[in-house]
Amino acid sequence: MNQATFIRQLPKVELHLHIEGTLEPEMMFQLAQRNQIDLPFASPQEVKAAYEFTNLQSFLDIYYQGANVLIEEQDFYDLTWAYLLKCQQDNVIHTEIFFDPQTHTARGIHFDTVIAGIDRAMKDGLEQLGITSRIIMCFLRHLDEESAFEVLEMALPHKDKIIGVGLDSSELGHPPEKFERVFSKARDEGFITVAHAGEEGPVSNIYNSLELLNVSRIDHGVRCADDEQLVALLAESKMPLTVCPLSNTKLKVFDEMRDHNIVELLRRGLCVTINSDDPAYFGGYMTDNFRAVAESHALSREELALFTCNAIDASFISEAEKCVLREKLDDFVATA
Ligand code: ADE
Ligand code: ZN
Repeated sequence: MNQATFIRQLPKVELHLHIEGTLEPEMMFQLAQRNQIDLPFASPQEVKAAYEFTNLQSFLDIYYQGANVLIEEQDFYDLTWAYLLKCQQDNVIHTEIFFDPQTHTARGIHFDTVIAGIDRAMKDGLEQLGITSRIIMCFLRHLDEESAFEVLEMALPHKDKIIGVGLDSSELGHPPEKFERVFSKARDEGFITVAHAGEEGPVSNIYNSLELLNVSRIDHGVRCADDEQLVALLAESKMPLTVCPLSNTKLKVFDEMRDHNIVELLRRGLCVTINSDDPAYFGGYMTDNFRAVAESHALSREELALFTCNAIDASFISEAEKCVLREKLDDFVATA
């Protein structure tokens, strides 16, 4: 089989995916109509044409606006189900999904409405597609600590559905230390923690996410390459980085895919993984991200499979569940 087929069929595990970032322009229009919401665009084509980003903030402004069409539980179900169908196409066998409750509660949408729709689709994803999944709730770092505490309180009755908490949105000017206390409470309540760090922000955000937020994974983390000591620490501690190649080029973290450091970090022994972040906005889901990296860097099949192997190791599932995923990966590699 050629490399394109190998990549498509390779079992994949996604660890960095914002469900609001899977809202395709066509669904944005359908939901706007269903919920009678005005969009500042005349057509899905016009929406797509607006996706020319210069940095993270230029994306976030348009992304939060898009989420305004999500109102009812069924909307969150439809959004999540559409993403799971993409997972099926791409041979994603396990996914850990972020959601941003404050994006919705700030508009008067109940926390329970959001989580119920996402969770119901994930249950159907397991039953009908055989895809396992987990939910991670993110705090919006441009909002204040008080708001994060409020949303943590709302999450407590849903501990059975939410495995961890994360930190996303505008990294510059909103360092991890702003959320040290809320993360401490979240850990006391039994949540695993992760944080976006070193996407646009400095290496100090990676160090402080590790030291002050006690994270189990760093989301993005590509700026670690600015600090040799940090690279050594990440390699030695096997701290996973959930890297998002197409996101990074769309948001100008790297000018071109050939400038991306993901393959260098993999070869230096870091536990790096490939993820799609906000695929409806950045031009591709998991297979597209793998292909974009493989087209610009000469990668062996072993290296491609290592991305999945790392993601299994870094996932928040039991050892028994990890064994099942490793078997699927090994079976594929043995017969490909
Ligand atoms: N929210 C959605 N995508 C994000 C990203 N790449 N960085 C920070 N916050 C986000
Ligand atoms: Zn992200």
